[in-house]
Amino acid sequence: MVTQAIVKMGNKKLATPSTPVANFKNPLSGCPELALLIQNMKDTMIAKEGVGIGAPQVGCNKRIIMFGFDENKRYPNKQPVPFTVLINPQYRPLSEEMIDGWEGCLSVPCIRGLVPRYLSIEYSGYDLQGNLVTRLAEDFHARIVQHECDHLDGILFPYRLKDLKEFGYEDELGEQIYL
Ligand code: NI
Repeated sequence: MVTQAIVKMGNKKLATPSTPVANFKNPLSGCPELALLIQNMKDTMIAKEGVGIGAPQVGCNKRIIMFGFDENKRYPNKQPVPFTVLINPQYRPLSEEMIDGWEGCLSVPCIRGLVPRYLSIEYSGYDLQGNLVTRLAEDFHARIVQHECDHLDGILFPYRLKDLKEFGYEDELGEQIYL
């Protein structure tokens, strides 16, 4: 297992829009660097107890995200989300309905904020074999996808806060952040 240092808020890479992965129809063939990047992202996400990660968080401005968990200590009351790698991901809301939820980020350690996200989305992207994956998602699953896609556009969750009072340290905010 090779874990990468997680880039934290303030680092310019996190504020930089990422570029699409070229040759995405079979992204891993003949591209050991990309395979290694994705493996490093996975190892790092698991080691840091993340529910998702974007390539910029390991210092690479490529449009790659991954997410998923069965059980997670940082989000103990959430339903499982299937482990998914998406290259060049996109999403669209299925309605205008937004829902507030507490979010954290490995690049903003020990902090949570209440962030509005679309309740239901359709997302797509390419998997490791170059197949197009398209799924519908709601609630926390949809929230993670929106959060990770934001990373690819240089957006961190604190930029989306409606109220700075609903933002703070995990150990001060208490149990509400785990509901
Ligand atoms: Ni994040």
